[in-house]
Amino acid sequence: MRKLSIVSVVGARPQFIKAAPVSRALRERHDEILVHSGQHYDYEMSDVFFEQLGIPRPDYNLAVGSGSHARQTGEMMPMLEELFVERAPDLVLVYGDTNTTLAGALAASKIGIPIAHVEAGLRSYNRSMPEEINRVLVDHVSELLFCPTRASLQNLGAEGITSGVHLVGDVMLDTARFFADEDGSRAVLEEYGVRPGEYYLATVHRAGNSDNATRLAAIVDAFARLDKTVLWALHPRTKGNLENFGLVSRVEDSENIVITPPMSYVHTVSLLSDAAVLLTDSGGMQKEAFFFGVPCVTLREETEWVETVESGWNQLAGADTNRIVEAVADATCPTAKPEVYGDGHASEAIVAAVEKHFGLV
Ligand code: UD1
Repeated sequence: MRKLSIVSVVGARPQFIKAAPVSRALRERHDEILVHSGQHYDYEMSDVFFEQLGIPRPDYNLAVGSGSHARQTGEMMPMLEELFVERAPDLVLVYGDTNTTLAGALAASKIGIPIAHVEAGLRSYNRSMPEEINRVLVDHVSELLFCPTRASLQNLGAEGITSGVHLVGDVMLDTARFFADEDGSRAVLEEYGVRPGEYYLATVHRAGNSDNATRLAAIVDAFARLDKTVLWALHPRTKGNLENFGLVSRVEDSENIVITPPMSYVHTVSLLSDAAVLLTDSGGMQKEAFFFGVPCVTLREETEWVETVESGWNQLAGADTNRIVEAVADATCPTAKPEVYGDGHASEAIVAAVEKHFGLV
């Protein structure tokens, strides 16, 4: 079989988790050139994921760092363009919905290199989310669209995108399956003084929550009113805004909120699997809670992962203190957990579809 040359573009924490299994499957038969945009750069936001998930060292690091949306996206594009021209890959692979995804897709599309989008078709139908804009644009310039769910496939159909669309399942389930047996991390519960089932795990990073003083304060108040320890793994954006909005003392004065730094994948999975409930505004973690059979309360008004809500594993509580507290009290584990995210072999399905697309099989 002819070896394909594929450039994968990653840059933010969730993309490392998604790229790990795809990269592993791709490299069995093809040449992958891995590009890190540098959107996330702290050790605990980036390097630790490469180490734990066994992702090869990036061939390029663009080191763009933080900035406004336009600056961040704009700075990546000429560097990506130059690199795409020089390496002339058969395909550019992008993941999810971050500014890195958009920059990779726009740069490749204008010079005629086909794009494959992993996690295509997700929609919140909320255009105030930067991620929603990124997803829509990326889907509309992609030649291959890898959908994790039926709902995402239907969303694309509703926008007239039917060609090159493949329902492959969710690559995050591939990663979760791969690491399900990793048990080197129970110690992390002891480190934070919590026992299985007796704490809540929380993450907040979405701009709509963390950049809004009213919403962030309402979330802090809800956490402080809960009946168990809330282990809050703090994203740097949220950490900064707790300080900017004068909310640090509210966190410190609460008796049950325990702040932790951003956590590695293995520690997150370990703390998640043993949590009573996950409170989050992350997209990926809503699914991971579902994978590990933990009820989720989502701190948003809508979700792209509608299956988690429809199956009773997830409740939408927005950033409303009372709704959050009530949702946690109501959270239960439904008896059924439908196989809506595939079978944990999405990466192999992606590689197979790519090979078919290039007429190799
Ligand atoms: C980005 C993605 C979001 C994804 C999230 C995962 C966009 C528009 N958003 O949001 O979809 O869910 O990543 O975490 O692409 N910072 C650090 N160290 C880092 C990285 C960031 O301190 O290593 C701080 C900086 O102050 C920065 C802020 O976090 O300004 C926000 O980072 P940014 O990459 O712009 O967006 P995220 O909120 O991480």
